[in-house]
Amino acid sequence: MNYNKKSIEDIEVAGKRVLCRCDFNVPTKDGKITSDKRIVAALPTIKYLIDKGAKVILCSHMGKVKVEWDPKLSLKVVAARLSELLGQEVIMAADVAGEDAKAKAAALQNGQVMLLENTRYMKGETKNDPELSKALADMADIFVNDAFGTAHRAHASTAGVADYLPAVSGYLVQKEVSIMGKALANPERPFVAILGGAKVADKLNVINNLLEKVDTLIIGGGMAYTFAAAQGYNVGKSLLDESKIDYCKDMMAKAEAKGVKLLLPVDCVVGSFPSPIDGPVDVKTVSIDAIPSDLEGLDIGEKTRVIFAEAVRNAKTVVWNGPMGVFENPTLAAGTVAMAQALADSEAVTIVGGGDSAAACEQLGFADKITHISTGGGASLEFLEGLELPGIACLEDK
Ligand code: 3PG
Repeated sequence: MNYNKKSIEDIEVAGKRVLCRCDFNVPTKDGKITSDKRIVAALPTIKYLIDKGAKVILCSHMGKVKVEWDPKLSLKVVAARLSELLGQEVIMAADVAGEDAKAKAAALQNGQVMLLENTRYMKGETKNDPELSKALADMADIFVNDAFGTAHRAHASTAGVADYLPAVSGYLVQKEVSIMGKALANPERPFVAILGGAKVADKLNVINNLLEKVDTLIIGGGMAYTFAAAQGYNVGKSLLDESKIDYCKDMMAKAEAKGVKLLLPVDCVVGSFPSPIDGPVDVKTVSIDAIPSDLEGLDIGEKTRVIFAEAVRNAKTVVWNGPMGVFENPTLAAGTVAMAQALADSEAVTIVGGGDSAAACEQLGFADKITHISTGGGASLEFLEGLELPGIACLEDK
């Protein structure tokens, strides 16, 4: 992707009301934030706006709102954490674009920051309702999108609002798109992509698109068993998407025709799926062509880990999305840990595309050894698919 969008540095923000969409969809447990990574990632843009004397109106969604105005999904908890991180009060609005938000936005002084309530409290948000977009826009002079994690959604606060205001990107969107965009458009080679996760169906277009770009494609995780079936192996009780076996055959043929090395597991750790997921589990390692019919492949085996790590060692650019096994269970985490370790040890440009693989790198303490860990899960996947993200497409070109 050729990134050519205006950023906050290309527009005068001093004294202006700036509506800044962030992705503050952070995980919480018992009302407490368990990872503030996405809030921290938004700080450079927010601090820039404060320093320039803008009146900053932040907004975000949190979770999927099923109960009207569900208090568990209020952004108050984010306002509190953000106040700590900024060292200044973040004024919390009681609504999204209602009387309270409008009054507080109108009263903002230069350098002050306020946060609107969860945008998904409004039904019009996910429908990209022009009325809501306009109501949001009416509170501000400029729209900044810094919500990379939500850029794949065409919602009122991520895309619709750009119909009514000058719209530019924040630093996080700029960073995510330029690092991942460069890796895809102009990678240093060898370029290796590692895909994992449960279902082939979730990654169909990613596999297809990456086969156009990479030198080596590594496939692990639950989706590898549909490939194993396509190779003619019995996969026992492993995750299998029968309707995608032909697709996997096509991808294997495409890789061969393009001269792309397609690395699939040669062995795997098998057992019965643990319940609870992190509970005890009896396992053994078997060759990929010898999965017992009553057991399930739950992680890549040792030989596979060595082969995959070797490919990473020789790479100059590595993109990783999706775990190699049921990494929530310590007995089944070794494959995912081995990949995280291989990326951490590598001299290559290493990019981890959000979600579970990002969580694995962070939990293992490898985050600072990775070139870039995306704040986007679905967004980074759609980016790897080569799709245009609506939250970025709506911004003004330079
Ligand atoms: C995410 O966590 O991937 C983003 O915040 C988008 O959330 P959504 O999948 O609920 O739209």
